[in-house]
Amino acid sequence: MKRNRVIGVVSGKGGVGKTVTAVNLGILLAREGIKTILIDSDVQNPSVGLHVGFASMHVGFQDVLGNKIALDDAVIDHPQSSLKILPASLKPSYRVPIQNFKGLLRDLEAYEFVMIDSPPSVLEYVQEVITNCDEVLVVTTPDLPSITSANKVIAFAEKNNVKILGLVLNRVHHKAYELPEKEVEALTNYRVLSSIPEDEVVPLSISLQQPLTVRFPDSEVALKFVELAEEITRSPLRHAQHSRSFVGRLLTFLHRFNPFAR
Ligand SMILES: Nc1ncnc2c1ncn2[C@@H]1O[C@H](COP(=O)(O)OP(=O)(O)OP(=O)(O)O)[C@@H](O)[C@H]1O
Ligand SMILES: [Mg+2]
Repeated sequence: MKRNRVIGVVSGKGGVGKTVTAVNLGILLAREGIKTILIDSDVQNPSVGLHVGFASMHVGFQDVLGNKIALDDAVIDHPQSSLKILPASLKPSYRVPIQNFKGLLRDLEAYEFVMIDSPPSVLEYVQEVITNCDEVLVVTTPDLPSITSANKVIAFAEKNNVKILGLVLNRVHHKAYELPEKEVEALTNYRVLSSIPEDEVVPLSISLQQPLTVRFPDSEVALKFVELAEEITRSPLRHAQHSRSFVGRLLTFLHRFNPFAR
C-alpha cells in the first residue's frame, strides 16, 4: 500500500497564491527533516524555479513526463533546505504527456510528501493533475469570483474522491468588503485552515528569489505557513519554534527596512 502523501495546491482562479503556498510549505516540511519533493506542474506559467532562485530552467517536469530526461537529472536541491524540486521548464510547452504523471508519482513513493504546484482552473490538463493527488489544498482570495471558481475545483475533487484538506484564504486585508472567514466556509463547506494577510514580504521575497520562510522566517505570513504545515502534518514543527519569539519578530520587522542586507 502507498504510504506517502501527494498534496496538490490548487485553485479556481489564477494568481491567488498557490505557488507561494506550495514553495513555503515544501521548505518548512523539508526543514523538519521530512523527505519532501515539490513539483511544478504549471507548464504554461512555471514559476517555482523563479521563486527559489533557479531562473533558467531549460529542462524540467515536461521533459521528465516525455521521457526525454531522467528524473534525477531534472531534480534540484534547494540550497537552504533539503527540499527537492522538480521545476517545470521555461521553454514553451504545447503538448505535454500529462497522462504519464501517474507513473512519475509512482517513482516518487520514497518521498513522504509530494507537493504539487498546480495551474489554476479545472481544464482538462489540470483535471489530470488533480485526480492524481491524494489530497488538495484549495487556495482562494476572500472575494466572490475567487470563491465561485474555487467551488468548481472543490466539486471536481469531490467527484473524483480526492480529499480536500481545506482552504487557504490568502491576501486578506481585513476590510469590510471582503468575505469573512465564516462566510467563506459556509459558501464552500470547507474549513479555512489558514488566513494569510496581504503583506509585502510576499512580493519582496519573490523579487529576492528567496522564499519568505527562509528570508523572513519571523514574519506574520511565515508564521501562518508554519501553522498550516502543522495542520497538514498534525504535529508541531520543531525548527520553526524560534520564529514565534518576540526577538525573532522584532528582527523581521527591522529587516524589512533593509531587505537587501544579507
Ligand atoms: N499574502 C500575499 N500578500 C501580498 N502579495 C501576495 C500574497 N500572496 C500572493 N501575493 C502575490 O500574488 C502574486 C501571485 O502569487 P502566486 O504566484 O503564488 O499565485 P498563483 O496562484 O500561483 O498564480 P498562478 O495561478 O498564476 O500560478 C505574486 O506576485 C505574489 O507576490
Ligand atoms: Mg502559480
